[in-house]
Amino acid sequence: MFPGRMALAPPSAFERLARLLEGVNPTSFPIDNAPVALTVGEPQDDPPQFITRIVNDNARAFGRYPPVVGTPEFRNSAAAWACRRFNLPPAAIKPDRQILPLNGSREGLFLALPAIMPETKHGGRPVVLVPNPFYVTYPSASFASGAEAFYVDARAETGFLPDFTDVPEHILQRTVAAFFCSPSNPEGACASRENWLQLFAMADRYDFTILADECYCEIWHASPPVGALDARYHSTGGLERLLSFHSLSKRSSVPGLRSGFVTGSPSLITALTRFRNTCAPQVPIPVLKASAAAWDDEVHVEENRDRYRERFAIARRILGNHRGFRLPDGGFYIWLDVGDGPAFAKALWRETGVRVLPGAFMSVERVPGDTTSNPGFPYVRLALVHDPATMTAALERIADFLQGVWQQ
Ligand SMILES: Cc1ncc(COP(=O)(O)O)c(C=O)c1O
Repeated sequence: MFPGRMALAPPSAFERLARLLEGVNPTSFPIDNAPVALTVGEPQDDPPQFITRIVNDNARAFGRYPPVVGTPEFRNSAAAWACRRFNLPPAAIKPDRQILPLNGSREGLFLALPAIMPETKHGGRPVVLVPNPFYVTYPSASFASGAEAFYVDARAETGFLPDFTDVPEHILQRTVAAFFCSPSNPEGACASRENWLQLFAMADRYDFTILADECYCEIWHASPPVGALDARYHSTGGLERLLSFHSLSKRSSVPGLRSGFVTGSPSLITALTRFRNTCAPQVPIPVLKASAAAWDDEVHVEENRDRYRERFAIARRILGNHRGFRLPDGGFYIWLDVGDGPAFAKALWRETGVRVLPGAFMSVERVPGDTTSNPGFPYVRLALVHDPATMTAALERIADFLQGVWQQ
């Protein structure tokens, strides 16, 4: 439990997993005699060499404080990538007014809310719409900024995306912002153009901001997911009420570089820049330099996508017959229906030395004490972030476990 206004904010799923597995010792480690973690969404591939080389070559610039708005070079590269990726004309995003570098998208997703949160809306406490399951920063930011989180379930019946049309009118009246993640973590569902337009129509009607978390938008299998920038720009000619968050962590397999950016409405970017300028660390200049080169390059991204395609092919071959298996549209997770995620994760760890993340730890119960009201409860999340040999061995252990111990 956190204190005060954070009391209702869920803790990190990894903290909960550590508690669940405390004192549970695997009987063996069948994969190279070591445990395997499919828990963290951390690409295990080596960072592209050109990225590390640029950081090294510019290391002297660690001796200077960087500007909060980054460098023109970074802003130009980020804007050009966003326009290319989301089919916008080159002038649609002004690098100087609509790009703000971030130390990874996480801090921007958090800081955006205090930067825009009013004390009240329509005489009541402001509300933030949060998908359920969620990335834990969403409720954390909501409560920290003095708002209330209103959870919107994403279930198989809603295509694994939150159905915002179900949100009651009195909640929408007080809504200040809505998080929407596509491809979604943990489910890997991608929003269609219609999904985005429907949400923007609600945002226009009820005057709220969309916080589009698109850090997985470069990891896709068949075709690139439609982005918030694309949907908004091509329907209105602008990016009002939108902040769209991007990251190199997954796109370029550099989660430790801590490099992302946010783009969208000029007035929202100004508000966030002013606020960050009072409290957030600036992005280091060597990181900005390497990041500009990374946003300019597509070759390493295509290679990265191919690696994930190979891992998903392995997963389909090994787990495809399990009734709870589903191939996601994007991202690098399998959202596997096992009936009871926490019990499964604990038994799997004990029997096979493979760690997976229970979906229940990434979502909340709508009715306290009723696990069926937690849309993540039946699932576990598997991160396909290892090399093919490790992935094969780990997934085979899971398949054996599903057919053997788990069914008894
Ligand atoms: C859904 C989602 N959003 C945001 C992030 C933050 O990524 P980063 O801060 O590395 O850009 C993550 C990281 O795993 C994520 O899964």
